This record gives sequence, structure tokens and C-alpha cells, in this order.
Amino acid sequence: MNGVDGEFADAVIAGFRGTPKSVSSRFLYDTRGSDLFEQITELEDYYPTKAEISLLDRYSGEIAELAGAGVRLVEYGSGSSRKTDRLIEALPSIASYVPIDISDSALSQAAARLIARFPDLAVYPLHGDFNQRIDLSAVPDGKTTLGFFPGSTIGNLTRAAARDFLENARPLLGRKSAFLVGVDLKKDLNVLLRAYNDREGVTAAFNMNLLVRINRELDGAFDLEKFVHEAVWNEDEGRIEMHIRSLQVQSVQVLNQRFDFAEGETIHTENSYKYSLEEFQALSRAAGWEPLRSWTDENGLFSLHYLGPAS
Ligand code: SAH
Ligand code: AVI
Repeated sequence: MNGVDGEFADAVIAGFRGTPKSVSSRFLYDTRGSDLFEQITELEDYYPTKAEISLLDRYSGEIAELAGAGVRLVEYGSGSSRKTDRLIEALPSIASYVPIDISDSALSQAAARLIARFPDLAVYPLHGDFNQRIDLSAVPDGKTTLGFFPGSTIGNLTRAAARDFLENARPLLGRKSAFLVGVDLKKDLNVLLRAYNDREGVTAAFNMNLLVRINRELDGAFDLEKFVHEAVWNEDEGRIEMHIRSLQVQSVQVLNQRFDFAEGETIHTENSYKYSLEEFQALSRAAGWEPLRSWTDENGLFSLHYLGPAS
């Protein structure tokens, strides 16, 4: 896989030339970004991780029965892989585990931790962008390949991109495949807004770290005191948006180019789409998957979908 090195500069320059200014959320995950995301998962205000773990605790036995023995488990956006321990433990005679992540630091730490914890497990880490071509040819076939896309990271893609992603995953995972996807649900606006404007300011640090990364890697000159984190709900699109807002008129040099900011102008850094159960099932069908089972937690916060290939 490739698609990591050198792309950051192009993405930032192109994104800053656009209107509105934007940078893809996949660039939030340098080493510090991945560490900050892990801190977010532990916040009281950030419900998705806790809700999804409760679903995995409750249903991993049922998931293992559906998947059967000898599974090759392929995880997209695996990060720390902490949730995955539950699946690895539940899946009978799991054949191998393939974590895929754009964050080198998160991927290598996770692989080392898993090899230590599960010495008999064959782990094949793949570093790169899960939206680009993924090559599983070095990984022996399992009886079934189970895709796993937790965390509602699929919600960081537009609805069209999420559909394309699911469609492209089918031939990669193969005929005897299934896909387990974690999807955040639409809910009370205050709960949503609190999760992305947490009281400890960790989400703000996670978002603003993009400017720190630009300063370090692209010779940027952002003054962090002159920008603020913002997370808002976009009702028409059904998504939380993260932005970085300029507090004043200013110009900033990046890679020897000047970018002008109006007072209040923002850089759009992330979308986090929220779905109803039925919306995500319809999206899966449109991508050629059959939703075989869907589970939600008792507070109706989060969902897990077990998809099989449509006949
Ligand atoms: N699966 C973990 C981590 C979710 S955070 C959980 O559920 O808690 C999102 C993860 O996806 C990060 O580790 C990030 O580095 C990775 N990621 C984001 N965009 C990516 C992309 N385009 N390709 C590969 N990995 C990506
Ligand atoms: C990884 N992803 C699903 C997280 C989300 O909720 O959209 C990233 C995140 N952004 C802000 N907080 C957490």
C-alpha cells in the first residue's frame, strides 16, 4: 500500500486554495493526533467508544457464531486495536489479523501489543490509506474473511464515499466474506455536541494539532492563539463538522506560500456523519451487501451491523 508520504503537502496546499478551505480528516492522525484520539475515547463526554465496546461485549459470541471458524480478520482504521481484542478472543481458531491504518505509530504499537498478548495469532499490519488499493495477497486465505470497520470511522466519509468504500470492499474481502461495521446513530443534539466539544478540551487539542503538524512538517507559521476549534451540527447533511476558525484577519505562510484568512473564516477538518439504523442498512444494500443483523446499545447511541454478501 502507499499513499501516505508526500500527500500531506499537496492536500494542504490544494485544500487551502479551495473555498471553503478544508483538509481531509485522515491528516489528523500523526503520532500526537493518534494519542489524542485515544484520550478522546476515554472522555466521559465521548460516548461512541463506550457504547461500541458494550455492544462488542454483549454480541461478540453471536458475531463469532455468524462468522464461523478460521476467520481472516481485516480491520480498517484499526488505531490502537483495543476493541479488537474482544473479537479476537471470541472468534474460534482465528486464522489471521490484518490491521490497516494510516498512522504508523498507532499501527506499530498495536501490532506489538497484539503479538505480545496473542502469541499464536498471525498479525499482518498494513500501513496506508484504506481508500486506496489494498493488497491482501501476502495474507493466507481464511475460511471466511471478516471485514471490521469500528468506531464509526465510516462516518468520516461522505455518504457517497461510504457507499463506494463498502462496494469496493466486497471484491477485496472475497466471495466468502462478511463485514462488521460500527455506526454512530442520530440522537439528541446536546449529546452529540458535547461529544465533539468536550469539557476537557481534548477534542479541541486533537483538531488544533493539525496546525501544529502543518507548522512542523510543512514549514507553516500558524499562531495557535489566533485560531479556535469549533464543532457544529449540520442538519441538512446529518453530520457533525469540525472546523478551525480564524479569530482575525491574517495571512499565514505554509511552504513559502501565503494564505489569507478573513475574520471568522474556517478550515473544515472533519465530517462525522450520523445515521439511523434504516439509513445505514439502505446504504449497505446499495453497496451490494445484505444487512443480516443489526444491534444497538440500550441507550440507542450506537449500532453494529453484520453484513453478508447480497446474493
Ligand atoms: N478503530 C479505532 C480507531 C478509530 S480512529 C476505534 O474504533 O477506536 C480512526 C482511525 O482510522 C485512526 O487510527 C486513523 O489513523 C485511521 N484512519 C483515518 N483515515 C484513514 C484512512 N484514510 N486510511 C487508513 N486509516 C485511516
Ligand atoms: C474516528 N472518528 C469516527 C471520530 C469521530 O467521532 O468522528 C474522530 C473524532 N473526531 C472528533 N472526535 C473524535
